[in-house]
Amino acid sequence: MGDPVTPQLEFFPPAASTLAGDVDALLFYFLAVCGFFGALVFIVTALFSVRYRASADRYDPNHAQPLWLEIGWALPPLVVVASLFLWGAKIYVEAYTPPPGGIEIFVTGKQWMWKIQHPNGKKEINHLHVPVGRKVKLTMTSEDVIHSFYIPAFRIKRDVLPGKYTSMWFEPSAVGEFHLFCAEFCGTDHSRMIGRVSVVSQSEYESWLEGGAPALTLQERGATLFEKRACATCHNADSGARGPDLRGVFGTKRKLSNGDGVIADADYIRESIIEPRQKIVAGYAPVMPTFKGQLSEEQIAALVAYIESIGPKKAPAPQGDSR
Ligand code: CUA
Repeated sequence: MGDPVTPQLEFFPPAASTLAGDVDALLFYFLAVCGFFGALVFIVTALFSVRYRASADRYDPNHAQPLWLEIGWALPPLVVVASLFLWGAKIYVEAYTPPPGGIEIFVTGKQWMWKIQHPNGKKEINHLHVPVGRKVKLTMTSEDVIHSFYIPAFRIKRDVLPGKYTSMWFEPSAVGEFHLFCAEFCGTDHSRMIGRVSVVSQSEYESWLEGGAPALTLQERGATLFEKRACATCHNADSGARGPDLRGVFGTKRKLSNGDGVIADADYIRESIIEPRQKIVAGYAPVMPTFKGQLSEEQIAALVAYIESIGPKKAPAPQGDSR
């Protein structure tokens, strides 16, 4: 532990996520298709330039291709290209649709480091600990410019944008240490915005999480902030409340004052804190002040985690309910 990952010149990065096999198979198929058609074009060009060299007695200005030949060279490439598209689209949708129930980790990129917050409040920098065989969802944002979170061994990469959350997920399939890169040129020290991913066993992950864990979980920190910033002055269940009650809201569809609908996901919650007048819930007035510049991305992440925790899925059972 503690040693940096030794740089190695490898032809191929290790495959350490459930997605890696699919991505590699698609890449090899793509290479095979390109190799086959590339070779075909070169061989036929060479062959035909000798065999059918233009000469006075061979030139036929009225020559037309037979129909079968036209179809023959249009249809097979269409099928091959369509197969590449369909296969690629399937993997893309899978790779960027986080399944429910994963561990949710917040990532903040800034020039030039990665800051990571685990659900129990534990933080780390340029190092990500995850358990093997568990689905992990990353919710990511940037404090300054565009970065890109890239773990080659997981075959996954996604832009990290200022002013918005993006997310990605993976399921590590092998224990080990893997590279973590920023894959978007983001300034002078972009090339040093690197780190590593430690995939450990479930029990190791738990004992790591507990080791030196802060007193408050991310949700608890969010709850404290919610109170400290007096959010509940407006966001409460009173009939005359100036803001909507936030219990049971997370992940549900909200009707807006302009008639549109929006899913109250992490990105919407974040936007509502920074730009509260962008999307007003129907029935309320645009009175909330902005918290832009007053909360760090880590604090916003804590608030989002808190609001998610009082959402419908995780709402505590009412007293006396014997479920
Ligand atoms: Cu951050 Cu490149």
